[in-house]
Amino acid sequence: VLINEVGARDGLQNQPVQVSCDDKLRLIEALAAAGVRAIEATSFVSPKAVPQMADADHLFPRLAHPDRIAYSALVPNRRGLERARAAGVKEIAVVLSATDTMNRRNINMSLDEAQAMCVDTVRAAVADGVRAKAYVAVAFECPFEGAVAPARVLALSESMFAAGAQEVVIADTIGAAAPAAVTRLLRECVAHFGAARLSAHFHDTRAMAMANAWAALEQGIRKFDASVGGLGGCPFAPGAAGNAATEDLVVLFEQCGYDTGVDLDRLRQAVALAGALTGRAVGGRTTTWLQAGEEKQARQAHTA
Ligand code: COA
Ligand code: ZN
Repeated sequence: VLINEVGARDGLQNQPVQVSCDDKLRLIEALAAAGVRAIEATSFVSPKAVPQMADADHLFPRLAHPDRIAYSALVPNRRGLERARAAGVKEIAVVLSATDTMNRRNINMSLDEAQAMCVDTVRAAVADGVRAKAYVAVAFECPFEGAVAPARVLALSESMFAAGAQEVVIADTIGAAAPAAVTRLLRECVAHFGAARLSAHFHDTRAMAMANAWAALEQGIRKFDASVGGLGGCPFAPGAAGNAATEDLVVLFEQCGYDTGVDLDRLRQAVALAGALTGRAVGGRTTTWLQAGEEKQARQAHTA
């Protein structure tokens, strides 16, 4: 199972504190040290819209281990793509929300405009040898328009693949999905596009991220976005709480026999750093349990 760590982007874009470029690099380095192989490092969006990502041009060229880590960055338009290319980005992600209102709130475009913009941006990226993936956001439910029909998600995904996107990320941006809906939508998506070209992005707003990830895994999905410490939430989607926590997903998958390549002890150091940098007591649900295990081990070592 491949974990795509999105904490430095989805996790930090919504924090009340501004984390410095150096500290973001420390966090990303801690994640790399834990064995994370794919990292969405930043977004090249308008600094007026998301001030937390204003340092993208400085951050991206300084990322370490580009040989073994697939770094990507989110771009909202051609301007973002140009900035990303100048910074050395080899993989971009565009965001196409499934409803009109969500696109207007997020990127100030109608659904049709956003779709045209994403097609254009993906085409330009691919023509330039840049890998492109596309988020289909609010794929289950929109905070403004309510339930989203699977047929619409399929059609939008189809248009992104047709434009040349190598991957589509089905995103439950506000954490409104439940496993039955995940099964229904992803079964159709996998039947149409194949599991290898799909990944899933869940938020834990209602404590369903793990169940949803499991439902997606059962449909053949093997790529998941996750955020260290469960940091996250879209500033433009009311009600969006944290992402599925990387450590929770790693424990879930590893305990069920799937290899993530992530070292839990080292990941916990990254979780602690994320907490220190944001000033928030972050941590997935497994954190307390992992800590308790560590304390027990320490006691046993002491007795021995
Ligand atoms: N990077 C940096 N600046 C950008 C930019 C980009 N990719 N795209 C546009 N801008 C600048 C413009 O130059 C303009 O600057 P100015 O006011 O100094 O002239 C300003 O942003 C507004 O540009 P405009 O084309 O009028 O766009 P807008 O105000 O309608 O905003 C977006 C559209 C897409 C740029 C903006 O809504 C955005 O960046 N959204 C990202 C939202 C996000 O990150 N959501 C979370 C992740 S899904
Ligand atoms: Zn998200």
